[in-house]
Amino acid sequence: MSSSACLAIFISGSGSNAEKIIEHFQHHESIKVGLLLSNNGAAYGLQRAARYNIPTLVFTKTQFHESDEIVTILKAAGITHIVLAGFLWLIPDNLIAAFPLRILNIHPALLPKFGGKGMYGMRVHEAVCAAREIETGITIHEVNAHYDEGKIIAQHKCTIEKTDTPESIAQKVQQLEHQYYPVEIENWIRTS
Ligand code: GRF
Repeated sequence: MSSSACLAIFISGSGSNAEKIIEHFQHHESIKVGLLLSNNGAAYGLQRAARYNIPTLVFTKTQFHESDEIVTILKAAGITHIVLAGFLWLIPDNLIAAFPLRILNIHPALLPKFGGKGMYGMRVHEAVCAAREIETGITIHEVNAHYDEGKIIAQHKCTIEKTDTPESIAQKVQQLEHQYYPVEIENWIRTS
């Protein structure tokens, strides 16, 4: 790996994963979180980042999809790697081209099952529950121009009991996310 890495985290909502990532790298010798970005000015994750003195940026659809502004800002901030943590917009081609194989996402199910456009948040866990799956989990994958289709870096599983509901499944999956996303990000950076 290069001598040091600087992460940008993209979020759209609560940002609990972002907070775990920030905590994980807070005192890291060679990897730091340089910026947290959101398409949603009301995202609670912005407040979480501010508590750790991580710079934040809120952007519009036009800035993101119809200009190079975000790429310019990321490059100027020295960002080397991008992680998506509950970010709901498709990543535009110019951003993928500027960070080839340097963008990671987490999906709250075992891809290729229960992925694709519109599969996010509780919709995923409701679909998993309705399909009477016996296990679910998380998938950490590289990002390309299609929702949930990049190379899979890691998957972690949990079992589903007959008594589980979409809500209890969501809790189990969130626990896996918090436990594994930061360390898998670190492994990915080290080996990339
Ligand atoms: C997580 O379940 C993640 O897998 C999905 O969006 C959710 C984000 O949760 N992509 P949070 O904002 O990190 O709490």
